Amino acid sequence: MKVIIFGNLGYIGPNVVKQLRNSFPEAELIGFDIGYFAHCLTNPYYFPEVHLDQQIYGDIRNVDPKILEGTDAIVDLAAISNDPMGKQYEDITMEVNYKAAVELAKKAKQGGVKNFVYASSCSVYGIASEFAKKEEDELNPLTAYARSKIATEKELAELADSNFTITCHRFATACGFSNRLRLDLVLNDFVASAIVSKEIVILSDGTPWRPMINTKDMARAIEWSATRKAENGGEFLAVNSGSNEWNNQIKPLADVVAKIIPGTKVSVNTDAAPDKRSYRVNFDLFKSLAPNHQPVHDLKSTVEEVHSNLLEMNFDDPNFRDSKLIRLKTLTDLQNRKLLNNNLEWVK
Ligand SMILES: NC(=O)c1ccc[n+]([C@@H]2O[C@H](COP(=O)([O-])OP(=O)(O)OC[C@H]3O[C@@H](n4cnc5c(N)ncnc54)[C@H](O)[C@@H]3O)[C@@H](O)[C@H]2O)c1
Repeated sequence: MKVIIFGNLGYIGPNVVKQLRNSFPEAELIGFDIGYFAHCLTNPYYFPEVHLDQQIYGDIRNVDPKILEGTDAIVDLAAISNDPMGKQYEDITMEVNYKAAVELAKKAKQGGVKNFVYASSCSVYGIASEFAKKEEDELNPLTAYARSKIATEKELAELADSNFTITCHRFATACGFSNRLRLDLVLNDFVASAIVSKEIVILSDGTPWRPMINTKDMARAIEWSATRKAENGGEFLAVNSGSNEWNNQIKPLADVVAKIIPGTKVSVNTDAAPDKRSYRVNFDLFKSLAPNHQPVHDLKSTVEEVHSNLLEMNFDDPNFRDSKLIRLKTLTDLQNRKLLNNNLEWVK
């Protein structure tokens, strides 16, 4: 089996590579990434790409179809990958997350690839609701990032057929440790804040709902879809990927962190306007289709995992929101250093 993982040098990629390597020891695994975060290693003694057969440095906006020859599955994680970055780089978000993804899928289909896996997001639902959103519910994108995911899903749906199975995972918000850790995600940010300032300041009133998933469980879901047969879920599948147990409101999330890291104070901004990005999500479909690939990490074990790994790194940076553990900071830093141009291409 030959699998190419696009966007493997990010937050989720290292865990996906490890998962695929453990489950398919004989597979040929190839990474493809432009390398914006290649240097953002959490542990300088361990390079996660050692589990690959090959690393390609390239731009998903310009993929030579030759590299796809003989490939069984493609996993597309390459993206401008959160709301603040989508705001800053709106056009590039559409180019990378949407147009390039669809072009890649077209080339893959032509080249005889059997499975295409796309990392979509639960943020496509967008708006607060009484009910947990199911796949067929109305989509309500509030950001360029969410719009890019919806546009891609729509076009990928047209490409799937009996020889080309496509899975779009509408992933919950990621959390947990990775060899390229991010602290621009709510739970990881709370753990980091608790360590450096013994305080978690919630910028909203604490009521928004945010489903979460550990990156290792995202990797298990991707393992499932990389070999999924059309009989299980259809030729095209957009599926909420997470678990019903992990629909949390922000304040109780912070309280769990404070319990695990004693002495942490949690404060809420009672004057804050309601955060529109609030959504509960129903993960029943994923449970019925992939019973053996359900999330196994829970909130407590994930907080403990991030906590212990940050301590092991001797993490003590009170300005971590200005550090390379924040994606937008890393990209703007590379631009300020004149290493990336306005189109986010490497300057030669
Ligand atoms: N982190 C989350 O909470 C979350 C939740 C749901 C879905 N997702 C999706 O999962 C995927 C992976 O997320 P992540 O957290 O690892 O993101 P990330 O930003 O850490 O990694 C994305 C990777 O894509 C690469 N990339 C960006 N533009 C590229 C280009 N033009 N060509 C080649 N590579 C390029 C980057 O270098 C980076 O290594 C993304 O599609 C993201 O939208 C993430």
